[in-house]
Amino acid sequence: SRLWRGVIEEYRDLLPVSESTPVVTLGEGGTPLIPAPVLSELTGARVFVKYEGMNPTGSFKDRGMTMAISRAAEQGAKAVICASTGNTSASAAAYATRAGLTCAVLVPDGRIAMGKLAQAVAHGATILAVDGNFDDCLQLCRKLSESYPVHLVNSVNPDRIEGQKTAAFEVADVLGDAPDVHVLPVGNAGNITAYWKGYREYREAGRTTRLPAMWGFQAEGAAPIVAGHPVTEPETVATAIRIGNPASWKQAEAARDDSGGLIDAVSDREILEAQRLLSSREGVFVEPGSAASVAGLLKRAGDLPAGATVAVTVTGHGLKDPQWGAQLPDGSAVEPVRVPVDAVSAARQLGLED
Ligand code: F0G
Repeated sequence: SRLWRGVIEEYRDLLPVSESTPVVTLGEGGTPLIPAPVLSELTGARVFVKYEGMNPTGSFKDRGMTMAISRAAEQGAKAVICASTGNTSASAAAYATRAGLTCAVLVPDGRIAMGKLAQAVAHGATILAVDGNFDDCLQLCRKLSESYPVHLVNSVNPDRIEGQKTAAFEVADVLGDAPDVHVLPVGNAGNITAYWKGYREYREAGRTTRLPAMWGFQAEGAAPIVAGHPVTEPETVATAIRIGNPASWKQAEAARDDSGGLIDAVSDREILEAQRLLSSREGVFVEPGSAASVAGLLKRAGDLPAGATVAVTVTGHGLKDPQWGAQLPDGSAVEPVRVPVDAVSAARQLGLED
């Protein structure tokens, strides 16, 4: 065994870095591809989940951020800025600190999960709570980075996509080839763009023999690509993907069409039920936004090719947004049962004693 060196060193030959790029890493990537027996049984396919919550800040954003921050440092940036529904801000804050850069994050006021906000604070970022949604925050960040000396690290920055494509390499490395179908949640549409780029480049490099169909899923109340027009007031419990006008819209459509895939929507209820299924039956705890992929897989299982191998990306850790794990999908609370320090009472509550 050997130390995992982070995605830049592991895949240096396929990334736009040179000897002079200062590599800013927290050891991201190398996340588990976990066989999912329950999902396999339910869908009739061979299903694996790519558990991106195992990255250093608890989401897939770290793959893109190691690239974006390394390149920003190489170019002499002193400050970085991003818009975020939470995970990007947590990741940018951590990697910026690591590189000695200042970091500003713009988030929709009151609409990001507590765990993510705590991370941005803990890593020392300056946080602006904007009276608007993610799309407003991104527009503001673009303007600021055009007019002031701050480096934009949202996924409109191509370095972010470059880093994130390494997840496709890892899936292919573990499976020995690309899967038949790759499923993931879609918000700003950077990640589906990155995976598709990764799978194409890996095949061109002769490291796989085929390409997967890309399946993307948006939340019903925030499904502009499915609707075919921007959504001015996106709404969903999955705050990570509460986005009405994705920056990589065109690229997501290209990934769908060129791969023979699909982009569909899932309801909040389907998302919460998929989250619960994954945590209570597969042992994998993810945040609601991540569960959109699993909900979509279950919804569209009938469209899977017979005997398909399916990789499902679950993008962020359940602890990011613990409120949803602590209750059932119908919103009812799960309260611990109070007992005295007494074995018989405890046993009675556990049904081990009449
Ligand atoms: N899942 C999670 C947990 C996310 O945080 C995001 C995006 C997505 C899925 C969607 O990925 O935007 O590449 O299509 N979060 C961004 C953020 C918007 O600010 O953290 P995408």
